[in-house]
Amino acid sequence: MIEVRNLYYAYKGEQYVLKGINFSMGEEIVALVGPNGSGKSTFAKHLNGLLKPTRGDVIIDGEDTRDRTVAELSRKVGYVFQNPEHMFFEESVFKEVAFGPKNLGKSEEEIEELVSWALKSVGLEGYEKRAPYSLSGGEKQRLAIACVLSMKPKYLVLDEPTTGLDAKAEKSVVKTIKELKKNGHGILLITHDMDLVLELAERVVLFYKGEKLYDGSVKEFFEISLEEYSLETPELLKLARKFNVGFVKSLDELMVAVSGDGT
Ligand SMILES: Nc1ncnc2c1ncn2[C@@H]1O[C@H](COP(=O)(O)OP(=O)(O)O)[C@@H](O)[C@H]1O
Ligand SMILES: [Mg+2]
Repeated sequence: MIEVRNLYYAYKGEQYVLKGINFSMGEEIVALVGPNGSGKSTFAKHLNGLLKPTRGDVIIDGEDTRDRTVAELSRKVGYVFQNPEHMFFEESVFKEVAFGPKNLGKSEEEIEELVSWALKSVGLEGYEKRAPYSLSGGEKQRLAIACVLSMKPKYLVLDEPTTGLDAKAEKSVVKTIKELKKNGHGILLITHDMDLVLELAERVVLFYKGEKLYDGSVKEFFEISLEEYSLETPELLKLARKFNVGFVKSLDELMVAVSGDGT
């Protein structure tokens, strides 16, 4: 369980950018959305201890992040940065993914096993010898996920994992996220892509100016007038509204609703 209680955070000498956030999640997919600068990444960095609260508490499976190092927390919460390609520094994909488990003091044999499991989980088996910089955008994003997966975290925080990817690359990342979900990971998905929210999320949290404005079902989330928060209603839902049918999650569902169950 990830539990955040009354979290306030201010960067050195600045105003608060998180203001009294209460939040909890288990093994589910939660989408975290909000305009640029609303505090999403700052919040995410608290979950694996990269940042420590100015006020309030962050508790991961019963442990206060203040009492744990980032290395210890990375076994519980894997944080995949926005623009992860800036984080690669090894000459091969294998070494890149092996870095985490190596730091955790795993044996050569365990490292081999963890790396091949992590690469398989993101669909990059066979890429071991490739240079990280030579990968495509979607492959880089999946490599970044493999790098945190190799430490076997229960929770994953994905910070805008599809931003800047083309449609094909985005599909490959979505597929990976679905696999991770199936394998029982809790996932906090930070995104601007409302289609992705509709497709993947089980719950949505909306941040605005450092405050949590909404935390609830996907269906009710899309009843908020999103334009106020620089977010866009998915085309599918606009279409559903034109046809005067309720909430749908896919084109198939819309078709069924429009044709009125074949009556
Ligand atoms: N390292 C930093 N130092 C000072 N201010 C920062 C730093 N990182 C982010 N901020 C500020 O904190 C606020 C929240 O930023 P951020 O958490 O990155 O929002 P989001 O991820 O929602 O775009 C913004 O006003 C941003 O300018
Ligand atoms: Mg951000």
